[in-house]
Amino acid sequence: MTALVAYATHSGATRTLAETLVGALTEQGVDCALVDLAEAPDPAGYDAVVLGSGVRIESVEKSASSWAKKYESTLAAKPFAFFSCSGGAANPAKREHSKATDGLLKDLSLTPVAVANFPGWVLMDRIPLHERVMLKSMRTPVGDFRDLDAVAAWGREIAPLLKG
Ligand SMILES: Cc1cc2nc3c(=O)[nH]c(=O)nc-3n(C[C@H](O)[C@H](O)[C@H](O)COP(=O)(O)O)c2cc1C
Repeated sequence: MTALVAYATHSGATRTLAETLVGALTEQGVDCALVDLAEAPDPAGYDAVVLGSGVRIESVEKSASSWAKKYESTLAAKPFAFFSCSGGAANPAKREHSKATDGLLKDLSLTPVAVANFPGWVLMDRIPLHERVMLKSMRTPVGDFRDLDAVAAWGREIAPLLKG
């Protein structure tokens, strides 16, 4: 079976999480295609789909929500999992629920086999000046908060769910 691992990223953190996930899924016998949503992948040819998105201003990337909406019926017909990558999830208490994730899923008639909210990074040299100013005014913590071991563990956990 082959899974599509599609991701939307602004500053690159979600891609690194998706790469880690693909490593873990591959070890569990799930062949994966890792594709940036900017390449507009068609999920139809895959047995399962994992979508990952960075979070900006309490929402997933627009490309992620519009892609999921466009392919909603295709995604509903196969195992589908979602993960977010945010600054807020650096706080473990905020990993259980994410406004961005909840907002995405409430607009979709999908029942994901798994959902996770992972911390990403907030690295000022990777974001444009006007956004840096905004983040500073919001007092967003700056740093690399990724927990790639947690992402790999999630990959091992969801592999059997993706296999269906
Ligand atoms: C303009 C901007 C707005 C952001 N808004 C939020 C937010 O509302 N909540 C949050 O938890 N993190 C927020 N973040 C932090 C990002 O979610 C974090 O940098 C994440 O790693 C981004 O993933 P990406 O590099 O794949 O785009 C924001 C970052 C930027 C640059």
